[in-house]
Parts: sequence; C-alpha cells; structure tokens
Amino acid sequence: MRIWIAAVLAAGLASASAIAQSHLSDPEGEVDDAGHDYIGGRPDHPSEAWKVVRGGKLYADWMEALMKKGPEQSHPAYPADGGESGAATWRCAACHGWDYGALAGKGPWTEADVTAILRDDRHRYTEDMLPAEEMAALTLFLNKGAANTAPYIDRAAGKSKGVAAQGQPYYETICAACHGYDGRTLGFWDGKTLTYLGSEAVQDPAKVFHMARFGHPGEPMVALYLLPPATVVDIVAFVQTLPTDDR
Ligand code: HEC
Ligand code: HEC
Repeated sequence: MRIWIAAVLAAGLASASAIAQSHLSDPEGEVDDAGHDYIGGRPDHPSEAWKVVRGGKLYADWMEALMKKGPEQSHPAYPADGGESGAATWRCAACHGWDYGALAGKGPWTEADVTAILRDDRHRYTEDMLPAEEMAALTLFLNKGAANTAPYIDRAAGKSKGVAAQGQPYYETICAACHGYDGRTLGFWDGKTLTYLGSEAVQDPAKVFHMARFGHPGEPMVALYLLPPATVVDIVAFVQTLPTDDR
C-alpha cells in the first residue's frame, strides 16, 4: 500500500504542503482542516456523476475509499502469479485491471445483479467490507465509468493515444496545483521505490487515466469524469512527457 510522503515538499509549494499536513493531522481523513468532508463524506443528495466517481474510487481501492483495513489473507480467486498478496488482492483493479478487462462495456447490470455477484462464492465481499449503501455507486461505475480503454490507451505500446500538446494546458491549470509543473511535488512510495506522476504514466497509463477520471481514493484529489475522456487522455499523454527521475 502506498504511503503519503509528499516528496518531502522539496519545492515548498504552499498548496501541496497544506494538503499533506491536513491529511497527516487527520489520519482518518474524514474531515480535513479546511472543514470539508470531500474524502470521507458524501453529499446529502448526490448527483449521478458523484456516484460514478465514488464507484471508480471503490474500484481502485475500496479499503482506501472507505478507510478500512482489508483482509490479511489474499483473495482466494487472486491468480498465484499476480504479484500481489494480502489486502491488495481484494481490490477490484487487482483482478480486473485498470482497463477493466472483461467488464468493459459488458453491462448494464442492475444494483441487485452487482450485489449478488459481489456477495457470491467467487467474490466473497461481506457487508462489513462493502456495505449495501455502496452498491449503487459500484453499479453506476461499472455501467458508465468502466468503458473500453482501447480507443484511449495503446496497451501494447504502453502509450496514451492522446495529444500531449492538447493536454498540457489542462495539466498546468488543474493537476499542477498539487503535483507541480514537473509532476514531482508529490512522490509515491511503495515501500521500495519512489515514483512521480511522470514515472507512473510511463509505467501504467491506464492507471493514470483511471485516477484522473475518478480521483484517488482516500486523498483530496479532483476527478475529471465530467470532461470528455478524449481530453483526459490528452492530459495523460502530457503526463507521459514529464520527468521520471529524482531531481
Ligand atoms: C480476486 C479476483 C477478483 C477480484 C478482487 C474481483 N473480481 Fe470480479 N471477477 C473475477 C473473476 C475471475 C470473474 C469472472 C471472469 C470475468 O468476468 O472476468 C469476475 C467477474 C466479475 C463481474 C462479471 C460477472 C458476470 O459474469 O457478468 C463483475 C461485474 C465483477 N467481477 C465486478 C467486480 C467488482 C466491482 C470488484 C471489486 C469490488 C471485483 N469484481 C473484484 C475476479 C475478481
Ligand atoms: C487537489 C490536489 C490534486 C489535484 C488537483 C490532482 N491530484 Fe493527483 N493526487 C493527489 C494526491 C493527494 C495524491 C495521492 C498521493 C499519494 O499517494 O501519496 C494523488 C495521486 C495521483 C495519482 C496516483 C499515483 C499513484 O500511483 O498512487 C495519479 C495517477 C494522479 N494523482 C494523477 C493526477 C492527474 C493526472 C491530475 C490532473 C488531472 C491530478 N492528479 C490532480 C492530489 C491531486
């Protein structure tokens, strides 16, 4: 699981530092120092877009999204050669991938279908893990968010099919607020290596595409779901041009 380290704010950017501190001073992340509840709360009457985005965060990591500890045992259906173990294997993305695999465009499912699928002997998600109140969001995400990524990401080449020059203005005016102009204001530490946005995008553009559209579970990050996917993938193309090395 990734640990927040905020690339130790080498650049001293005030906005990123405020975010990092509010996160650290409130480990539950439910209500940050600014008094809002973007991470752990929900609107009283959520829009459909909010639910799709919520579902996308649950898909990426329901444990981070719900601020819960996952099972210690690896998921019995997780492939032996999958490379992960323990709680991480219970993330939807661990088995279905950032391109959504066979789920892409397979629906629509009803909420009852999804509930039955996730509680069945294959998936084994209990009410304690994924409560009934999250099923509507997961269903909307599966039906509307988990679209085929092939028009946007060239998997074989590991490249975004977007146009970097078109993504640059979006990056500079949205993502840079937290990630910095060179993508190195926040660093991602997986216990072994430190990576930055640029390196993440080179390693796994589909993951960055997902994160940009649905936000990062458990973190105060924006979700661009309401922008056309073609625009988001232009941003991913620009992120693929950012530096990948330590400064
Ligand atoms: C440990 C592996 C694993 C995890 C974790 C996992 N799945 Fe699955 N899932 C499968 C397999 C295997 C199938 C059946 C083959 C397929 O459709 O890919 C499946 C099928 C499905 C289906 C299609 C069922 C059908 O037949 O129409 C849906 C929907 C689904 N999963 C949703 C999810 C969601 C949402 C999550 C996270 C909350 C999740 N899965 C987590 C392994 C997993
Ligand atoms: C309001 C602040 C904020 C904005 C704006 C923002 N992010 Fe983030 N982003 C974060 C935080 C916080 C994290 C979590 C850092 C961590 O894992 O320690 C994060 C993590 C990520 C990750 C996950 C990296 C990983 O492997 O865990 C990706 C990918 C990402 N952001 C992409 C983007 C893109 C692309 C944009 C612009 C569309 C963007 N972000 C805009 C705050 C932001």
